[in-house]
Amino acid sequence: MTYYYRLGTIPKKRHTQFRQPDGSLYHEELMGIHGFTGIQSLLYHLHPPTQIDAVRLVQTIALEFEQPSALRPRHLRTAQGVSAGDAISSRILLLANADVCISVAQPTEPMSYWYRFAHGDEVMFVHDGSGVLESQYGLLHYRPGDYLVIPTGVFWRLLPNVDVLQRLLVIEAQGHIAPPARYLNREGQFLEHSPYGERDLRPPEALVPRDEVGEFEVRVKARDRITAYTYHHHPMDVVGWDGHLYPYAFNIADFEPITGRVHQPPPVHQTFEAPGFVICSFVPRLLDYHPLAIPAPYNHSNVDSDEVLYYVEGNFLSRNGIERSSITVHPSGLPHGPHPGKYAASIGQERTDELAVMVDTFRPLQFTRQAIALDDLQYAYSWTIDQRSS
Ligand SMILES: [Fe+2]
Repeated sequence: MTYYYRLGTIPKKRHTQFRQPDGSLYHEELMGIHGFTGIQSLLYHLHPPTQIDAVRLVQTIALEFEQPSALRPRHLRTAQGVSAGDAISSRILLLANADVCISVAQPTEPMSYWYRFAHGDEVMFVHDGSGVLESQYGLLHYRPGDYLVIPTGVFWRLLPNVDVLQRLLVIEAQGHIAPPARYLNREGQFLEHSPYGERDLRPPEALVPRDEVGEFEVRVKARDRITAYTYHHHPMDVVGWDGHLYPYAFNIADFEPITGRVHQPPPVHQTFEAPGFVICSFVPRLLDYHPLAIPAPYNHSNVDSDEVLYYVEGNFLSRNGIERSSITVHPSGLPHGPHPGKYAASIGQERTDELAVMVDTFRPLQFTRQAIALDDLQYAYSWTIDQRSS
């Protein structure tokens, strides 16, 4: 989903002659999902988007997971995982299943090539940093708190302001990421009870078509490999586009929390849905106002999902010992709940400043070998250890 938008110059009617100042035709490209039955956009290029001069295998991708170990709650101190490179090469893959891959990244340089993920949409949550997401759809400036949603198939690259620290949470879907269907009417418009609306989504701001001949590399991740394609013309040569499919930004500060007299369950925080998982935003909000309310969450058994929580800012209401950019993973099969003291201490609190992103997956996640290095082995016992020392 996303509403209809247009940018740049397009012909009055689709699939008709649209001519450049020299009389030659622009080159129309349709980019759409679900085989011509899903959302789509039409783009108009200066040159055919098909002219490849060279193809090269960059790398094959073989995920390395940890050996099966005892199932337990996990805490990954991602702040200790230092990475460098561009927005792709700096990714540290931590968790994956057949539906989603979750990485963190600290890009220190701009991408010298463009990138396309062929199997699904990507979300990059900007924890720290700013810069520009460049794509065929135009330039989109990003800032802390932005979810950058990039549909599959889009050529893009990240141009970070490298003089400030960049810290990203990257969620790569094997399918399409969209706002929850229950917040949309059947025409696709956000409903009144939705925690955000069309005005909160930021499409690309400006098109700067490039008319250049040379060697331009686009790397495509597909079928467990990355392939580099050298294009004859600059791939950012789009003069105009319109449609419903395009990258956009949504800032977590624009998520309007849903609150209640008693504790509200995680679905009220849901921000996006995708095949096999959801993304939720825990934002600063007023807490429960029933006279006998307990604002901290009750213990719960997440029977059908693994819960991944990425801590952004603030003092999280229910957890001790968590750092900024920590990730906790509560696997299905184990009940979990507030740390000792947090449940009772929450009584009477009127607001929370916690800010966190949650990814709940419906299939079990596996931990990569990189995740092991960040693992806080004491976390599984933190409910008990705190109890003994208090
Ligand atoms: Fe939970």
